[in-house]
Amino acid sequence: MDNIVLIGFMGSGKTGVGRELSKLLSIPFYDMDDMLEQEAGMPIPEIFRLEGEEGFRKRESGLLTRLAQEKQKNASASVYSTGGGIVTRKENLPLLKKLGTVVFFKVNPGTALERVGDGTSRPMLAGSGREKRVRELMLLRTPMYLACADIVLAMDGYSKEENALRTKIVLQEHGCL
Ligand code: S3P
Repeated sequence: MDNIVLIGFMGSGKTGVGRELSKLLSIPFYDMDDMLEQEAGMPIPEIFRLEGEEGFRKRESGLLTRLAQEKQKNASASVYSTGGGIVTRKENLPLLKKLGTVVFFKVNPGTALERVGDGTSRPMLAGSGREKRVRELMLLRTPMYLACADIVLAMDGYSKEENALRTKIVLQEHGCL
């Protein structure tokens, strides 16, 4: 089995559903945002504050490059959850594909807004005009997610357990499991 790489907008369920999926498949789960925070020794909002979005994207691309390179050495499959903006750097697209089967968790703006809440953990949505920002970013990024995805799955209206099962079924249908 190849790795499973989850992409999609903030609040699309990459982390929550990804964790459930890894349990269903009995394989490890890795969250790239968590890995970046551990490497940096600080939370993501702090990385943005000190290094800007550019600094964060450099770290993100660096980690993805290493994961894709290390893949050959590591034969056992894992589920990887990525940050919602990983597709904004063009050079990341082939790296995501190299890392594994890319699954795009597609959600409507309403679902994303509901799931991200109004917390401060997501610097890309900081400040006022959150709804407009979600709509704009989603509009810009959706073609990039689609360009990269091997599989597209609409996630609105289901629980994370249901979505994990739906993802497993779709992976089976595509011969990935
Ligand atoms: C970002 C999404 C976040 C995190 C960072 C930037 C984005 O990940 O990588 O705050 O640009 O969409 P999640 O998609 O897991 O929230």
